[in-house]
Amino acid sequence: MCGIVGYAGTKHPKDILLDGLKALEYRGYDSAGIAIKNEKKVQVIKSVGKIKYLEDKINNNSLIDSNLGIAHTRWATHGAPTETNAHPHNVGKVTLVHNGIIENAGEIKNKLISKGVIFNSDTDTEVAASLINYYYSGDQIKAIEKATSELAGSYAFGILFDDSDMLFAVKKGSPLIVGIGSDGNYIASDIMAIINYTKRYILPEEDEIAALSANSFKIFKNGKEIKKEILTADVSVEAKSKQGYEHYMLKEIMEEPLLLENTLKPFADDMSLIPDLKEYSEIHIVACGSAIYAGMIGKTLLEEKAAIRVYCEVASEYRYKKVICDKNTLVILVSQSGETADTIAAMRKAKDMGADTLAIVNVKSSTIARESDEQIFIEAGPEIAVATTKAYILQVAIFGLLAYKASGLKNLKREIGNLPRLVKEILDDRDTYLKIAHHIYKNNDVFFIGRKVDYAMCMEGSLKLKEVSYIHSEAYQAGELKHGTISLIEEGTPVFGIITDDDIRDKTISNIAEVKSRGAKVITVSNENVTGYDLGVVVPKISDFFQPILVVPCLQLIAYEVAKLRGCDIDKPKNLAKSVTVE
Ligand code: G6P
Repeated sequence: MCGIVGYAGTKHPKDILLDGLKALEYRGYDSAGIAIKNEKKVQVIKSVGKIKYLEDKINNNSLIDSNLGIAHTRWATHGAPTETNAHPHNVGKVTLVHNGIIENAGEIKNKLISKGVIFNSDTDTEVAASLINYYYSGDQIKAIEKATSELAGSYAFGILFDDSDMLFAVKKGSPLIVGIGSDGNYIASDIMAIINYTKRYILPEEDEIAALSANSFKIFKNGKEIKKEILTADVSVEAKSKQGYEHYMLKEIMEEPLLLENTLKPFADDMSLIPDLKEYSEIHIVACGSAIYAGMIGKTLLEEKAAIRVYCEVASEYRYKKVICDKNTLVILVSQSGETADTIAAMRKAKDMGADTLAIVNVKSSTIARESDEQIFIEAGPEIAVATTKAYILQVAIFGLLAYKASGLKNLKREIGNLPRLVKEILDDRDTYLKIAHHIYKNNDVFFIGRKVDYAMCMEGSLKLKEVSYIHSEAYQAGELKHGTISLIEEGTPVFGIITDDDIRDKTISNIAEVKSRGAKVITVSNENVTGYDLGVVVPKISDFFQPILVVPCLQLIAYEVAKLRGCDIDKPKNLAKSVTVE
């Protein structure tokens, strides 16, 4: 999704802005641009495609003297990814970058057209810039307030005015931080964009306006200046580097053992830190993408082990569905970024309906972390690869903890003591995953089958493979395959069979036999030897609560190796965004 960065300081903004854009690349984008300004001029440079094209263009231009600028990576929503539609947008005295979607842009555009305003792009962002410009008569805060009061939808704006040497920013429903540095002040979609320059930041609330110069930072609410707490980010500059790994995805998978150890330890030492879900009559787990698949594992464990009724739904549906929940319902929001627009909306809906909310979240400064009633932080550190790996594993681990406590068991230390070591041993077996990857990377379709908790793992394994390798892949409940999809199985079609649940082991094995006899190339991932198939991975058998944590890393590494063999852009798959901050 779009990323924004801005700087008002003592240095030329070019390098700071480019550095920020590169750090925001992980969010996913298809064009980029910067605007720098001085008292006389605003210079805008934009480019379609990778940031390196923008960088080349900037380097081939003679830049004006400046110490003020804004920059943007655009993930197209309104209008194709063209240079005209790329941000910054310059209208009259206003130059603006935007992350979010203005839902009433059409209506406002018509109003402005009727007043003689001319539009050049197809974007909702140009409409916002025009509206601010329309209301601007020398008081920046007033113009921003007046315009934003008319906007529906979500936004984080970075704004420059021709006749001001300050950088302005405002947000609603999209992430924005204000960085406080010694050589100037910053705005960014997240702290990683400016971590090379400062760790100190302010979190503006909805519709608070930041006004920044080289040596001052002010936040306004309803026209009045307010005081805000300055926070310090607990991320290191090194977290941004690949630390010798070829890709962030690989680095992040390899971090899983250590992260599991660090994240789980406090809970094992003191189980009272784990919320008691038994108090609720019903649990709803709501999330998007991989996070909902982590939730599906949670649902299975909570139902099977603790007999709690659990409803699991993707946030984009939950937010619009007729949902039955009240004060006896706990709604668990799962989100790495804490900024996924649909998950935020689902959380707000649940709160409005009187339910308690618990967030399983990574980014502590995020909207979901701040607005939920209770939080469990997965402590994954920054996750840069678009396709989540380590955050998903930690989410699954947290569900293991919740189910363990809810089932009344007490010896968590013993249960998870070996987990990090076992995961490490699994990750070290790279040759096995590469061998499997060689068997499937030329195929066009792959299937994953399993039942119950194994099916939930299939969903994530399949998603990971399609996300990074672009191979069409589907996950099926093993028993359901024969009701249609089995017609797609041909000689050599790869089918992964996940088999860890003892109760339905034999049933899944029968379903695997059905596809095998129709020519499928079967790859089993199991916690007991399953013989007679083409390829297999056997992971150690451990407690059901944590068994998925030994299985999914294998699937992550297989997806990684397949993507590498196919020459894909592993860390930034096409069309995907890390943090989906619009509907
Ligand atoms: C995007 C990412 C996925 C992620 C999903 C939910 O689609 O590409 O990897 O699982 O969003 O993100 P969240 O930050 O809410 O966990």
